[in-house]
Amino acid sequence: MTSPRKTYIIANWKMNFTPGEASLYLNRLSNRISPSRNVQVVLAPSTVALQPLSLQINRRQFKLAAQNFYWRDYGAYTGETSVAQIRGFVDYAIVGHSERRYVFNESEEDIAQKVAAAIRNNLTPILCIGETALERKDGETKAAIYSQLTNGLHEVSKEDISKVIIAYEPVWAISSNKNAKPAKPSDIAEAELIIREHIAKLYNKQTAEDIYILYGGSVNADTAGGYLDIPGIDGLLIGGASLIADSFCAIVETAKGKNK
Ligand code: PGA
Repeated sequence: MTSPRKTYIIANWKMNFTPGEASLYLNRLSNRISPSRNVQVVLAPSTVALQPLSLQINRRQFKLAAQNFYWRDYGAYTGETSVAQIRGFVDYAIVGHSERRYVFNESEEDIAQKVAAAIRNNLTPILCIGETALERKDGETKAAIYSQLTNGLHEVSKEDISKVIIAYEPVWAISSNKNAKPAKPSDIAEAELIIREHIAKLYNKQTAEDIYILYGGSVNADTAGGYLDIPGIDGLLIGGASLIADSFCAIVETAKGKNK
């Protein structure tokens, strides 16, 4: 019998919490979230908190993810932190988040190199993709998803694609956007099919069936269950609600209830 698919609940704390605050918050979460075989909880604090939290966490309970890093391993890159420098602290790396794409002008090539760097350093990249409000309005959702997948994965071989997680995060649904509105489950179900269809073309059908696809964008304790019920959605990437212990713990409990 094959083991059941895991559900991923990933907390993106973005640029919040000092290392001290992050440590206190982790402590609160660890008192309330018990380890689970089927639900993998991943926390993505700021880079500066990765090392201290890596010493504090129980890795059976939580894993850590980097929010950002530079794709070269070492060298004269003032101000940057490489994935080779942080790989001892984390198991996952978020790549291509829309705030990196649109606030920091990260290019498709940067994103492809980061995905490759994460794999080279034995981390699981969580590749975020999703259309903007304008792309959706213009009927370009499918084209946007196709091109972000093609470009973001162009360095990833057939052998390595099973190491990648995809997070579908429509930019218009992310709470940091001024006019954010929550995505409907039907929008997400449609995108999930588009993603698997394109992965099948880039790799093969089995890969498309196997790859993990998460949803992110304005998820809260009230909506998490509905999103987790969408067939083919393997978990959630959570920003705002992950900063509130009650909300985040409730989301983890919901995921555990659905994947026993
Ligand atoms: P949000 O953020 O849950 O606050 O919308 C999600 C994300 O940016 O990954």
